[in-house]
Amino acid sequence: MLDFEKYIKYSKPGPRYTSYPTAIEFSDSYDYETYINNLENQDDTRPLSLYFHLPFCRSACYFCGCNVVFTSKEDKKERYIDYLFTEMDILKKHLNTNREVMQLHFGGGTPTFFNAEQLGRIIAKIKDTFPNFREDAEVSCEIDPRFLDEDQMKLMVANGFNRVSFGQQDFDEKVQTAVHRIQPYDITKDAVDLARKYGIDSINVDLIYGLPFQTFETFKKTLEMTLTLDPDRLAVFNYAHVPWLKKTMRKIDETTLPTPDVKLNILKYTIDFFEGNGYKMIGMDHFAKPDDELFLAIDKGELHRNFQGYTTKGGADLIGIGITSIGEGVGYYAQNYKEMNDYEAAIDAGKLPFERGIVLTQDDKIRQDVIMELMSNFKLDIKRFESLYDLSFKEYFSDEIKALKEFEEAELVSVNDESIEVSHTGTMLVRNIVMPFDAYMKAHASSAKTFSKTV
Ligand SMILES: C[S@@+](CC[C@H](N)C(=O)[O-])C[C@H]1O[C@@H](n2cnc3c(N)ncnc32)[C@H](O)[C@@H]1O
Ligand code: SF4
Repeated sequence: MLDFEKYIKYSKPGPRYTSYPTAIEFSDSYDYETYINNLENQDDTRPLSLYFHLPFCRSACYFCGCNVVFTSKEDKKERYIDYLFTEMDILKKHLNTNREVMQLHFGGGTPTFFNAEQLGRIIAKIKDTFPNFREDAEVSCEIDPRFLDEDQMKLMVANGFNRVSFGQQDFDEKVQTAVHRIQPYDITKDAVDLARKYGIDSINVDLIYGLPFQTFETFKKTLEMTLTLDPDRLAVFNYAHVPWLKKTMRKIDETTLPTPDVKLNILKYTIDFFEGNGYKMIGMDHFAKPDDELFLAIDKGELHRNFQGYTTKGGADLIGIGITSIGEGVGYYAQNYKEMNDYEAAIDAGKLPFERGIVLTQDDKIRQDVIMELMSNFKLDIKRFESLYDLSFKEYFSDEIKALKEFEEAELVSVNDESIEVSHTGTMLVRNIVMPFDAYMKAHASSAKTFSKTV
């Protein structure tokens, strides 16, 4: 039995490490010309992973931390499609778009807020620009079940979409009212059934714990209802409350948020619940059935972390297309403009809408490797690492190894000359465990208002 009380002290601000360095380190000192040069000099033998940001939603869920444009206007969506098309045309001048595509992801916002005909046009343009999709490419879409019809699902499947992710968050009416997202069970059930009917083989459901009015009892019910949907994967996110960054979060009454001990109880129950019902935990917030390819990848040390979570598909260059999208190549991250006006102005000037990013130093690359390896595969082969970077791990990371002592004593991690291994309980607190390796963390330590809390 886990003694969760002792982990409450780890409730402190920390990054989610979907990238290292994290996005707050991106700046305009990485200039446009250097970015274009990086794109043009990419290794053509590496496959591409494409991310398209489709940012529109009709109304705001108060907890939402995504980059969203709220609208109900059709012409705004049409205008965005035009800009996406031009962005792809400009991209083609600087990137060999005939490279193999191993992954395509539609994220949002709510991609299915575009109707089937609009999605069809977007997909056709993508296939025209990037004609070489691998047969086993992972093609996925984030879907708000409240905005999905049969024509959209039919179209996606006909175009090779094989994964969908449905947002649910919580089934409790009081919680749903407090976060301004009313979504009865049947709506989600119908969406899941539709995806199954058209043969989607991987269905994910997103839940969030830490929302207003959630209690142990209400979340227990949410979990039971979620289980009846029989999803292949689940994401159970810790609510990232950052009202200083996201205006809509200010509509949430903080006194109604569950306390860290309630949240840890919920998390503990969630883990026991899904593990008792045929799922295995993966990382700090994901679950999947034991035969899922993610587990095979962990065994082989081939799991990767990206901006969408975990994937078995590594070794690709990520190209982010659309407002706010982030791309990642060997040694850099690049992010598009966040404001629609800026995004459009760049494209009108015939440029890619690149705003800022970071070129990694050798130290960044070394730390990135440690952090991503631990976040994904929960162990690090020190010997492999030393020969790859030609360094002594113990010397290079002497302070970091000292900082891991408290986690070793709490049996969250074990460290020896050969390896670092995160324990099963430690995977829940892996953000805390990798934090000592983050060279930028010290600079942010004085500010509570940078990251959301880890617990
Ligand atoms: C772009 S949304 C998914 C698609 C669709 N817009 C929807 O909401 O159903 C991505 C997911 O991020 C998660 N999310 C959004 N804001 C969050 C926050 N502040 N903290 C934790 N998770 C959050 C939610 O679980 C949500 O389903
Ligand atoms: S959670 Fe999804 S539907 Fe809600 S505002 Fe955010 S992106 Fe839109």
